[in-house]
Amino acid sequence: MLRTNTCGELNNKNENQEVTLVGWCDTVRDHGNITFVDLRDRYGLTQLVLDHNKSEEIATIGKSIRKEFVIQIKGIVKKRPTGTEKKDMLTGEIEIDVTNAKIITISKPLPIDMTERTVTNEDLLMKYRYLELRKKDLQDKIILRHKIVKIIRDFYDENGFIEIETPILARSTPEGAREYLVPSRVHKGNFYALPQSPQLFKQLSMIAGFDRYFQIARCFRDEDLRADRQPEFTQIDVEMSFIEQEDIIDTNELLIKRLWKDVLGIDFKEKFPVMKYSEAIERFGIDRPDTRFGLELIELTDILSKGEFNVFNSAVQNGGIIKGINFTGKSDLSRSEIAKLEDVVKIYKAKGLATLKLVDGKFESNITKFFSDEILNQLKERTNAKDGDLILIVADKIKIVNDALANLRVYLGETFNLIPADKWNFLWVVDFPMFEWSEEDKRIKATHHPFTSPKKEHLDLLETEPLKMISDAYDLVLNGIELGGGSVRIHDPKVQARIFKAIGLDEKQAKDKFDFFLEAFEYGAPPHGGLAFGLDRIVMLMTKSKSLREIIAFPKNKAAASLMDGSPNGVTPKQLDDLGLASTVIKED
Ligand code: AMO
Ligand code: AMP
Repeated sequence: MLRTNTCGELNNKNENQEVTLVGWCDTVRDHGNITFVDLRDRYGLTQLVLDHNKSEEIATIGKSIRKEFVIQIKGIVKKRPTGTEKKDMLTGEIEIDVTNAKIITISKPLPIDMTERTVTNEDLLMKYRYLELRKKDLQDKIILRHKIVKIIRDFYDENGFIEIETPILARSTPEGAREYLVPSRVHKGNFYALPQSPQLFKQLSMIAGFDRYFQIARCFRDEDLRADRQPEFTQIDVEMSFIEQEDIIDTNELLIKRLWKDVLGIDFKEKFPVMKYSEAIERFGIDRPDTRFGLELIELTDILSKGEFNVFNSAVQNGGIIKGINFTGKSDLSRSEIAKLEDVVKIYKAKGLATLKLVDGKFESNITKFFSDEILNQLKERTNAKDGDLILIVADKIKIVNDALANLRVYLGETFNLIPADKWNFLWVVDFPMFEWSEEDKRIKATHHPFTSPKKEHLDLLETEPLKMISDAYDLVLNGIELGGGSVRIHDPKVQARIFKAIGLDEKQAKDKFDFFLEAFEYGAPPHGGLAFGLDRIVMLMTKSKSLREIIAFPKNKAAASLMDGSPNGVTPKQLDDLGLASTVIKED
């Protein structure tokens, strides 16, 4: 070893010991005949004192070292002079009186600022990610991520789960996002798809009899990126046999509780609350409600469709609805603040936002003229409006109203600081609809994925009213972010065939897509189900990070590129030729 100790462990107990340390020069302070260096490694910082009078070697090195040089020193641990100790530093009681020093490697001045993360531009940070990763806060997050993964592995192992690695080069999975394809050299014109999730393989592991499977699984989805989405991310993927929905929820809830207890010291004694999908949509307009604050959505269709306001009436006549939010105590919002709220709902395709202030027991608004006193009184009662409240209303198609108000609600919560930052509101959302209507494809499609089991008592609706069917699917939500989701699966091949037919896949198409998978169900499939948590999102929330990029060591940017290694990049004509691909992407050899 090139060192006897790390830079984060020496204290008064080591006084007068001779030690050898290696690390990076974090700060170099030149005081004429003495150079002070904070030597850094991932364990901490240790102050070195290079007294130039000691030797020629120390004088030369003391004068030539710069920030981020890697040096090795030998020296004696000394107590710091009284009054110069640093309480907030692990090694703040001591310093090293250097007797020998050696520069191992030098460093150019760094292209990024190591102190102020916000001032360096994002692209530069991404290009020099390995330097950015030297920063303590980022390094701490990556180390914590390692600890979290260790706890997860231990938890599933203790509970009888087997970790099984599933292929990265495989056939398409039906999670619904666009896939990354890998051309085959051997089978020209054919492609592997990188897995969006190990869905098919984990179900096949159940058919194989493994009973309890888990995997820390890398997944790939070519979708539009956001702060909580990366093209390449990690799932905590789980599947269990001979279970019902409650068993999956109960077992995996214990993992989440274990993580919060072991990592953050927070003990959740009660079961996490459970809410039906329909209630979530009704009260929050979204299937992943942030329940840390109020401002719930209020159904107003029955009341406000009885007036003379054409916008509302025609929305309802076209099958739409009217819902509102009581923005309590905010009737004094300025015109421009209200205009901003209107801009928010317009992002989600709402045509407008009606606003009513309650002043001295009466609503003030440009739309009160369309409504009788009786209707306005009903509105007051339904919204529980008090003097000083502001009622915000959207009328439109159901999805638009819910989307617009759900997002407006979160905007209000964030902008007006109504969300308590220290709360952890977990919520299981259950009873998702089996199908949803796809406007794009003009047909129904599976809300979760097509292997999800409908509730037994709903199976009869399949051929008549499929959109009324509820499935055994569930999501775990934390503070408005979807942490994970899963379902009980279909294990009866006859039911599976009916589901495929309902989503427009005939026998031949289903066979083409999933033949190996469907055939497996003809050899005795156990009842089974599972879920997947987003590991990255869990780490992001636990570390209060704003984006997945803070907790993935080498992430991609918003354009799904890595500025560090320059991927994606062009390849040589020879490589394309080997793969049988014609392309204009050409790189000089
Ligand atoms: P689902 O598609 O809901 O389910 O994914 C499970 C969880 O993975 C996380 N996640 C992501 N995290 C970061 N970036 C992304 N692009 C991304 N996409 C998804 C989310 C999500 O809740 N096979 C099913 C699970 C099952 O049925 O067992 C599945 O993949 O936290
Ligand atoms: P107008 O008659 O267009 O001046 O609209 C009167 C008010 O109704 C304005 O404050 C609009 O923002 C609002 N409004 C318009 N369309 C909608 C809608 N679909 N839902 C709710 N309010 C709307």
